Amino acid sequence: MEGPPEALDDDLCVRSCERCPALVASRSRIVNGVGPADADLVFVGEGPGATEDERGEPFVGRSGDVLDEALRDAGLARTDVRITNCVRCRPPDNRDPRAEELANCRGYLEAEIDRLDPEIVVTLGKVPSEHLLERSVAITGESGTVVDARIGDRSRRVLLCVHPAATLYDRSQRDGFFETIARAAELSGAADGAGGQSRLGEF
Ligand code: URA
Repeated sequence: MEGPPEALDDDLCVRSCERCPALVASRSRIVNGVGPADADLVFVGEGPGATEDERGEPFVGRSGDVLDEALRDAGLARTDVRITNCVRCRPPDNRDPRAEELANCRGYLEAEIDRLDPEIVVTLGKVPSEHLLERSVAITGESGTVVDARIGDRSRRVLLCVHPAATLYDRSQRDGFFETIARAAELSGAADGAGGQSRLGEF
């Protein structure tokens, strides 16, 4: 059954929302999360960029390529995990989402995480880390740490991680990023060591 227009539907998608005038003006579409509705591992980014806005899917640009590679390295396929964002509409000129925009979209994110009920939530970058932890975060130093945070009505295990884009402008962050994604796979119990696919064909 469909809920009110400004709510998550049965597919965990927001189909229409006009809460943020600047984002409504700059977006091409609402970019909802992707991945299984029972995923044990959820990645939360900041918000859609230009490629995501064009294609209607989170993390499908250069950052997404890095995330996909790290997932494969950790024995996971992109389709094994849920990938979503703090805000579902692209901020103009790639600026950070504003506090009121994050607040406007928070209920959707909380409802999504609530329905997924994952083992672990991974924050990709400073913005989602500060948003979910409700404190300031020095993400480079704190990346790789697990904390408990109240998200909606429940306390959740949250693994902090740098944004995949950080590895593109600073190669020295790459190993740490890959290690944190491997840790996420381990904590969620989701990794099968085969990139999400059967390895029978190899034998
Ligand atoms: N960066 C994000 O934080 N989210 C995306 O979906 C893409 C890039």
